[in-house]
Amino acid sequence: MIFKNSKIFVAGHRGLVGSAVVRMLKLYGYKNILTISKKKLDLTNQLKTFNYLKKNKPKFIIICSAKVGGILANNTFKGEFIYENLQIQNNLIHGAYLNNIKNLIFLGSSCVYPRNCKQPIKEKYLLNGTLEKTNEPYAIAKIAGIKLCESYNYQYGTNYLCLMPTNTYGPNDNYNLNTSHFIPALIKKAYLLKKNKKKSKILKLWGSGKVRREAIYVDDIADACIYFMNKKTNKFLINIGVGKDYTIIEFAKKILKIIQVKAQIKFDRSKPDGTPQKLLDVSEAAKYGWSSKTTLEDGLLKAYKSFLITK
Ligand SMILES: NC(=O)c1ccc[n+]([C@@H]2O[C@H](COP(=O)([O-])OP(=O)(O)OC[C@H]3O[C@@H](n4cnc5c(N)ncnc54)[C@H](OP(=O)(O)O)[C@@H]3O)[C@@H](O)[C@H]2O)c1
Repeated sequence: MIFKNSKIFVAGHRGLVGSAVVRMLKLYGYKNILTISKKKLDLTNQLKTFNYLKKNKPKFIIICSAKVGGILANNTFKGEFIYENLQIQNNLIHGAYLNNIKNLIFLGSSCVYPRNCKQPIKEKYLLNGTLEKTNEPYAIAKIAGIKLCESYNYQYGTNYLCLMPTNTYGPNDNYNLNTSHFIPALIKKAYLLKKNKKKSKILKLWGSGKVRREAIYVDDIADACIYFMNKKTNKFLINIGVGKDYTIIEFAKKILKIIQVKAQIKFDRSKPDGTPQKLLDVSEAAKYGWSSKTTLEDGLLKAYKSFLITK
């Protein structure tokens, strides 16, 4: 049982998801939140991570720390993506086990599922087929994390739960066009067009623009983490999404409308599309009583407003 004064370690608290988790924990009245910067504790370092957990003994860990990026970063820094993610999650999950920390949430990603998966994607489709090549090392690391949790639950009786969020966006997102995901990239590109005084504006999208994606506002992910932190489940893997997807062109049009910029949409077909469709089946989360609350329009507007403050 987690109480309002239970010690909750949010790993990766400066990132998109981690900062939202801390924000929401505080909002819901949790008073004993443990965080540490990467500068002070590099979670790829096993000894330092084990010592930190031994010293601080949190009651619950929410693992939001990871090497994360969009298609370009994933496709370029494949070695870093597999090594750092394996290290971070192994150190935190095995460190939790060693320190008798029975409960944690490990965040995976919808890219753990096979490239040509039946849609919407059910949790049971994991390992049913070949992965998308552009983010295979990242996905393999995440799948290893899921299997680590499942195996520890089986062998050691822990309650390690893996939540699989769909594409996430919101305050504290990464707006670097070389490493960002598609929503922050679209917001940044549309914003730059708005600032540009040229009469004819062109929004260039990667690939065909026809692939379909689902996106969730980050506060809903944070809400799901807190909800499932307090929920007993007999599952080790639960999808977290909104249950509806759109083409990249549709996302682009919505963002142009929100930012109030008129632009022609063009496509850079030399760039990869990635997986053709990624829509999560969210019925398992719904069975436990959780569903997302923020509409896409509201979420995009909030994300844009926060982008304007921090840009
Ligand atoms: N963003 C998405 O669309 C999305 C979608 C599905 C799932 N997820 C999952 O959600 C989780 C959080 O993602 P995010 O988007 O919040 O990522 P993010 O914004 O890049 O944040 C990642 C956090 O991890 C920390 N970190 C990275 N390497 C570390 C290390 N070696 N030692 C200590 N801390 C380290 C970073 O610290 P610094 O800030 O100091 O660098 C940062 O706080 C990840 O597991 C990701 O797979 C994200």
